[in-house]
Amino acid sequence: MKIQEIAMRDLDVGKFIEQKVDEISSIAEDGIAVNALSGGVDSSVVTMLAHKALGNRLKSYFIDTGLMRQDEPRQIVSWFKELGVPVELIDAQNQFFGALKGLTDPEEKREAITQAFYKDVFGRLARESGAKCLLQGTNYTDVEETVAGVKRQHNVLEQLGINPEEVYGYKVIEPLIQLRKPAIREIGKAAGLPEEIYERPPFPGPALAARVIGEVTPERVETVRKATTIVEEELSGTGAFQYLAILHEDKVTGLREGKRDFGFQIEVRCWDSEDAVTGSPTRLPYETLEKLAERITTEVERVVSVTYNITKKPPSTIEAI
Ligand code: XMP
Repeated sequence: MKIQEIAMRDLDVGKFIEQKVDEISSIAEDGIAVNALSGGVDSSVVTMLAHKALGNRLKSYFIDTGLMRQDEPRQIVSWFKELGVPVELIDAQNQFFGALKGLTDPEEKREAITQAFYKDVFGRLARESGAKCLLQGTNYTDVEETVAGVKRQHNVLEQLGINPEEVYGYKVIEPLIQLRKPAIREIGKAAGLPEEIYERPPFPGPALAARVIGEVTPERVETVRKATTIVEEELSGTGAFQYLAILHEDKVTGLREGKRDFGFQIEVRCWDSEDAVTGSPTRLPYETLEKLAERITTEVERVVSVTYNITKKPPSTIEAI
């Protein structure tokens, strides 16, 4: 089935929310639905819509893949608790690192995450809770990029000919699939999310694994996680669309306290963009770049080189894998 985009100018926010709440109720009937909350804008909006539709028949899970940012699992669960939406934290770090072990090819890594997510972790949760459907925040850009073969977004299934009901044993409901990010933020605002959630910069489904070039190990994720914290602290006030740190696979020769240090390279990206379809590097002040380099090389062990991406999308993409 071809998905039709709903452009921002054609969106009636109130009507959209009402329609999606009805749709979710009628698909879930009087059963239970499970929801994959990552804390990003899209999955947070879906959680609010599904909570309105199903109340306590919605079981929301935050999957701790081991690939999230510093303190993110605890923070997201506590934000939603304040909104009256209970979210259960599931520790699935071993499954994800196990699935990623030894893989270096970007599409193979994405596929491994997809399988760990839908088959192992959600397969079990759906079976145990008796849920027949899973809700998730796939958006129009995810579908477009996957179908165009740019990147297999971890959450796109049907458009690749995968029938989740046959393969995983549950339906997948995607209320936001016709919308792009700015429209989703409007829905989030109207659905009662606080600004700190509906205005969050986008964060990819495969999380920090999308920012580790080469093998994704707990140690390598920890390096990119520390660099990410610094990048977010320094760039959150810029108003940029998205900013991130990437760990490169190649090491380079550095110099520390007069001695050779064959260490890691971190690449910083900061994007101006409307909807992630195209983007330009933000013209950050040189002082900001210098501060990033100084902090990352002193606060993140073994990093001896920090670079800033100056390439537009296209030909770059926003994330590294
Ligand atoms: P790219 O890297 O393809 O990213 O230029 C476009 C936007 O999508 C986000 N992104 C993802 N979001 N699942 C998601 O839900 C994914 O697999 C995924 N990969 C990239 C990225 O952060 C950017 O905002």
